Amino acid sequence: MHVLEAGRLAPSAVNRQPWHFIVITGSNVKERLADTYSKDWFIQAQVIIVACADPNEAWLREDGGEYWKIDAAIALQKMILFATKEGLETWWLVNFDEQAANGAFGISPYICVVAITPLGYSDEVKGEVYNRKPIEKVIHLEHW
Ligand SMILES: Cc1cc2nc3c(=O)[nH]c(=O)nc-3n(C[C@H](O)[C@H](O)[C@H](O)COP(=O)(O)O)c2cc1C
Repeated sequence: MHVLEAGRLAPSAVNRQPWHFIVITGSNVKERLADTYSKDWFIQAQVIIVACADPNEAWLREDGGEYWKIDAAIALQKMILFATKEGLETWWLVNFDEQAANGAFGISPYICVVAITPLGYSDEVKGEVYNRKPIEKVIHLEHW
């Protein structure tokens, strides 16, 4: 529950909180998700969180810039960080079949699935993070 609470308390553009999270623990519902992604290992996870957003609830910048994906991603990442601290393994999945995901839950056409995240305890020891760009390629210090 603390994991979900961490997401609920996340900041969002103009505090619109345009997110909805479907939390799946039942195996029947997990099975329904199998068609949403090319590899179905994620349905073995103890819990699957489907992060959604309603663009109509979200703030829109004057020039049309949309922030609902960012809002939902920030909330989901807060859940992921909290879950990681609690010793759970998680994974981001966005390469899902949107139609299949909407169909699996009968999600309203106004709601967009942003990401699917399996959570669970794992025996696998996670390796070091190694395949990242060097710091000087991504941090740009501006000295006045
Ligand atoms: C926004 C986002 C979307 C991702 N989508 C997928 C995905 O659809 N399928 C997948 O296998 N991994 C996905 N990942 C995981 C990344 O591929 C993975 O974190 C990256 O390759 C670095 O690997 P590492 O975290 O093991 O170092 C996603 C990660 C992020 C942050």
